[in-house]
Amino acid sequence: MYVRPAAAAAAAFLGFTLTVLGGTSASAATGPSSPTSPAGAAGLLGPVVYAHRGASAYAPENTLDAIDLAMRLGFDWVENDVQRTKDGELVVVHDDTLARTTDVEQAFPDRAPWRVKDFTAAEIATLDAGSWFGAEFAGARVPTLREYLDRVQSNRQRLLLEIKKPELYPGIEKETLQVLDEAGWLDAGHVQGRLVVQSFSADCVRIVHGLRPDLVTAFLGTPTVADLPKYAEFTDRINPWHTTISADWVAAVHGLLGAHGKTMEVDTWIVDDAATARKVQGMGVDGIITNAPDVVQEAVLGAFDH
Ligand code: G3P
Ligand code: CA
Repeated sequence: MYVRPAAAAAAAFLGFTLTVLGGTSASAATGPSSPTSPAGAAGLLGPVVYAHRGASAYAPENTLDAIDLAMRLGFDWVENDVQRTKDGELVVVHDDTLARTTDVEQAFPDRAPWRVKDFTAAEIATLDAGSWFGAEFAGARVPTLREYLDRVQSNRQRLLLEIKKPELYPGIEKETLQVLDEAGWLDAGHVQGRLVVQSFSADCVRIVHGLRPDLVTAFLGTPTVADLPKYAEFTDRINPWHTTISADWVAAVHGLLGAHGKTMEVDTWIVDDAATARKVQGMGVDGIITNAPDVVQEAVLGAFDH
C-alpha cells in the first residue's frame, strides 16, 4: 500500500507500522475494531477500511483472488455476500443470478435466468468467475462459504459477512452460523474481533442475533433517527449508503447503545474516491466499505495533513 510521506510520518509518529505486502494494515495496527469500544471504531488513523467483496476494484469480486489481493495491499477486513445453491451449499456471490460474474450463459445456455438457487454447488464449481473481470483471472471460482472462510483464516484476515437476499433462502441464517461454527469462526477469538454479520433484512439480523447473541451484527440501511432505538435492540451497527447520511445522523447512531450495551457504530458504503472518503470521515463514521481500499486508506490518512 502506498502511503503519502506526510501520512506515513503521522503513522510513524503515532507509533504504528504499515507494512506494504502481506503485513499489518492500519486497522490491524490499531487492534480489533471492536464494537465494544466506547469511542467507536475510528482510531487515531481514521475509520477502519473494509475491502468490499475483497479488493474488488482490482480483482474479481467475492473470489479468493480478491481477498488475497486485499491482504497483499495490507487490508485485513474483507466483506462478502452469502447465498445458497439448489442443493443447500452456501456460496459467496453477490447477484442472485450468476450471469454477470461468471461464464454461466456459455456453460449452461438453456438455464436462463441462471439463478444461484437453481444451480447445484457442483455446477457452480465448474464456472469461470474471473474472466469477465480480466484474462489474468481466468479460472477463478465462485467459492463456497467454507472455502472462503478457510482462506480468510489462513490470510489472518477478518470478515464482514453479508447474508444476501435472505428472503430467497429460508433458514439461511442458521445454516450460515453452522458453517461458521464448523470452520471454527464462532469461538471467542473470532466473535470478539474478527467477525461481523450484516444484512439489508432487519428480520435476518434479528434472527442471527437471537441464535447467537454474542455475535456482532450490523443492519444495512438508513433508518430514521426516530426508528434507531428499535434497531439498537438487536444490532450493534447501522451501515448506510454514504449518500444517505449526515454528521447529525451519525451522531444520532453514536448516541445509542446497541445490542451489547456499547456505543453503536456506523460503517458506510461504497466509497471509492478520496473526496468522499474524507467527507464521510468528517461526519465521524467508524468504518468505510470500499472496492478500492488503498485509495480510501490513503485519503483518510491524508486527513492528518490538514
Ligand atoms: O457492505 C455493504 C454493501 O456490500 C452493501 O451493498 O449490494 O454491495 O451488497 P451490496
Ligand atoms: Ca455486500
